[in-house]
Amino acid sequence: MDEGTGHGPFYFELNTGAKMPSVGLGTWKASPGVVGEAVVTAVKAGYRHIDCAHVYDNEKEIGLALKGLFSSGVVKRKELFITSKLWCCDHAPEDVPKAMIRTLEDLQLDYVDLYLIHWPFRKKPGMRGWDPEMMAPLCLPETWAAMESLYKSGKARAIGVSNFSTKKLQDLLKYAKVPPAVNQVECHPVWQQPGLHNLCMSTGVHLSAYSPLGSPGSWIKGEVLKEPILVEIAEKLNKSPAQVALRWGIQSGHSVLPKSVNESRIEQNLSLYDWSIPPEIFAKFSSIHQQRLLRGEFALHPTCSPYKSLEELWDGEI
Ligand code: A2P
Repeated sequence: MDEGTGHGPFYFELNTGAKMPSVGLGTWKASPGVVGEAVVTAVKAGYRHIDCAHVYDNEKEIGLALKGLFSSGVVKRKELFITSKLWCCDHAPEDVPKAMIRTLEDLQLDYVDLYLIHWPFRKKPGMRGWDPEMMAPLCLPETWAAMESLYKSGKARAIGVSNFSTKKLQDLLKYAKVPPAVNQVECHPVWQQPGLHNLCMSTGVHLSAYSPLGSPGSWIKGEVLKEPILVEIAEKLNKSPAQVALRWGIQSGHSVLPKSVNESRIEQNLSLYDWSIPPEIFAKFSSIHQQRLLRGEFALHPTCSPYKSLEELWDGEI
């Protein structure tokens, strides 16, 4: 990515001073056997940012792909920005460094550029499924302190959270000694998160957008790319709805993490820097009907979870 020409932002600067490329390849729901090839294709196409997580069950294959890219000289480690996430069964402070080491081994890396608490709920150790009976009491301040130790050790060059509401992020900012660099959340033209956006902007926490296309084709069944206002804008700008959704994200100040395993869509999703959405068209996004797609019912339980309702999980942002 060329910083000197075109319509950035090519990078966002985190509160650590690190530069996070504004488009990253999402790897959630990218199946084993396919994800490694997608990572190679993306890096060869110019992606320098890959978003991973232990629970996606594909970090080993991504690690093999990265090793091949490094050994064949396509890219150097320091040129890539790699994120991973702490799964909910590893929130106990003593489990946090073990989870980090397992992810580093799987990815075959010495450090990640960013490590996130994946969700603000906790499961019993070893529990990866969604059965609510597997929930354990939350201990976010202790988990965060363990994340801060990873940051100090250099294994995670930045730390942050994912799926935190405005209130949960405000709470974290009160007890954090190292403030989170990033909150990675669902964000796209149909779920724009203005309250969270404003808090992130005013506190220097970068908002990174997962499901920036609304995850069409997944169980979420998002119809973001069919949203009439988005389609109309795409036609006017002679771009695809996906490109307009992504460009809206980076012009809003968010990094975007589109997942694709298809070469032409991988390329299309990075072709965002030689054009922009003019202000008068950008203003039209505010009239799009808003709807959270990934609602998180799996985190609710009347007795085992700290959250009995979606209202509680998202602190009213639903
Ligand atoms: P595929 O992997 O076959 O390209 P999200 O990033 O919001 O979770 O969305 C990912 C989904 O969107 C995947 O099903 C992916 O399919 C599809 N997708 C990715 N890029 C595009 C695009 N440019 N146009 C349409 N669909 C896309």
